[in-house]
Amino acid sequence: MEGIAYVNDTFMPLETGQISIEDRGFQLGDGVYEVIKTYNSVPFALEGHLNRLDRSLNMLELPLPKSRKELKRLIREALRRSGFQDALIYLQITRGWAPRQHAFPDKVKPTLVLTVRRARSIPQDLYDHGASAIVTGDERWLRCDIKSICILPNVLAKEKATRVGAFEAILARDDRITEGTSSNVVAIKSGRIYTAPEGNWILSGVTRAHVLDLARRECMIVIEEFFDPEFLMSADEVFITNTSFEVMPVVTIDKQSIGDGQPGKITCRLGQLYKEEVLLHTTQTVL
Ligand SMILES: Cc1ncc(COP(=O)(O)O)c(C=O)c1O
Repeated sequence: MEGIAYVNDTFMPLETGQISIEDRGFQLGDGVYEVIKTYNSVPFALEGHLNRLDRSLNMLELPLPKSRKELKRLIREALRRSGFQDALIYLQITRGWAPRQHAFPDKVKPTLVLTVRRARSIPQDLYDHGASAIVTGDERWLRCDIKSICILPNVLAKEKATRVGAFEAILARDDRITEGTSSNVVAIKSGRIYTAPEGNWILSGVTRAHVLDLARRECMIVIEEFFDPEFLMSADEVFITNTSFEVMPVVTIDKQSIGDGQPGKITCRLGQLYKEEVLLHTTQTVL
């Protein structure tokens, strides 16, 4: 296992990183996380991710154990030690170590774990020919806007997709498409871009925000409203977004073709624009 971990204020090889079994993250899932991708050793959309981390922490009344400046310094150092150019940085913050009890303990020191792993390589074939998905019930809690480490319903839905050979499970709550298990979902119909609105039913994806911005810059009409599974199935194009795989065309849902069963023109255009955006910001910006 290659990679670097920063645990209990110390850098170490990923495989040696450990935390206490009394940590509230392990005991109660009392924590939040963030995932940031680097390109050419530069984290993309770092401020957006750190802003979302702040929001998640605030909602759990969890203090950030380091200043943002210090956190950025640690990220830079972990990245340097990993030697990876294209990496996934995980930040995980829990309420810390305390004897098990549900209510917040007094005077507990939050646990900060930072890891750097090599970025997963996503088969090009998926971008060229599109991915498949299933639709399944959204069984999560009602604060999906918090990037909580409690993601068991996401895990179970993803497993369901994996067992039938699908790439992602798209979730539906009360007949409304919310998002994927680790992605936001976009449907395109008659040239218009549809996606679920921000709120407590979805995670405000950093990639989603960039892609919608790019679409608006291209003068495309973006409609942030819920739509139902029937609308999804009858879309001309569907794609999903996340930090790791960026813009991924979805061409089959529940074994039914979407549009002509090929990645659509608008999807490919937005995917290309996103790549250009990444390139622009990761060749100029430094932490
Ligand atoms: C439930 C969920 N929705 C959406 C996303 C996409 O978010 P981002 O684009 O910030 O990676 C993720 C990412 O992991 C997620 O877990």
